[in-house]
Amino acid sequence: MDGGVIGVFDSGVGGLTVLKAIRDLLPKENLVYFGDTARVPYGTKSPKTIVKYSLENARLLSSFNLKLLVVACNTSSAHALEALRRELPVPVVGVVEPGAKLAVSSSKNGKVGVIGTEATVKSDAYKRAILSINPSYQVFQRACPLLVPLIEEGWLNDPITAQVVKRYLSPFKELSIDTLVLGCTHYPLLKGLIKELFPEFNLIDSAKAVALTVKELLSSSSDGGGSVKVLVSDKTERFERIAKMIMGRDITVEEVSFDKE
Ligand code: DGL
Repeated sequence: MDGGVIGVFDSGVGGLTVLKAIRDLLPKENLVYFGDTARVPYGTKSPKTIVKYSLENARLLSSFNLKLLVVACNTSSAHALEALRRELPVPVVGVVEPGAKLAVSSSKNGKVGVIGTEATVKSDAYKRAILSINPSYQVFQRACPLLVPLIEEGWLNDPITAQVVKRYLSPFKELSIDTLVLGCTHYPLLKGLIKELFPEFNLIDSAKAVALTVKELLSSSSDGGGSVKVLVSDKTERFERIAKMIMGRDITVEEVSFDKE
């Protein structure tokens, strides 16, 4: 492809929220997405395994003429960004830094909540990124492991999901945060519900911030055809159903194998 493609990977389907934001902002760029659906979830795995999987995903995408790689997975961004930057000859954009920047510029009282997978929260990546921008901020974090399965079930506006969201997020209200970072690629799909239940929180969806960072990094605008290729390590009807929910249209999904590299 002329000028190279932007590669995007996630542990599964959630990173399509980032792919969509990039496509909306840069419609002429050629994009290749890889969802590691055979090995999802990453959020409960050890840092060593998350780094290994992330490097394998990047190598798989490197068989395309990559000009930039987007790590559209908070868990991989939190643990594997340095390893990926060391290995790849192209710029690597994670989701944590853009999300942290946006959170700092959006908060008025300096109290920020962060929700994510267990691995993301344990890494303290958002906390470190926010405090490196402004050390006077207070950052409160919480892992919300039940949200990904509820979202994948399509229960976006369900009373059970509402109960779970209330239980996870109510402590943030007592801590008087004014800004909440949605530190997992699936969570933007719950924006409507969270807004309804906690209208006082300013929600940070790093997908848009990532798309803006990508735009800034590309030296010139592409004259590519705006193709979107979606690859997975395990193709299921479930992926296609959720992908349609996220992208708002049917997409063609192709299964690829790590062995073929
Ligand atoms: N994509 C992951 C993230 O953003 C969530 C799903 C998983 O645990 O792999 O952290």
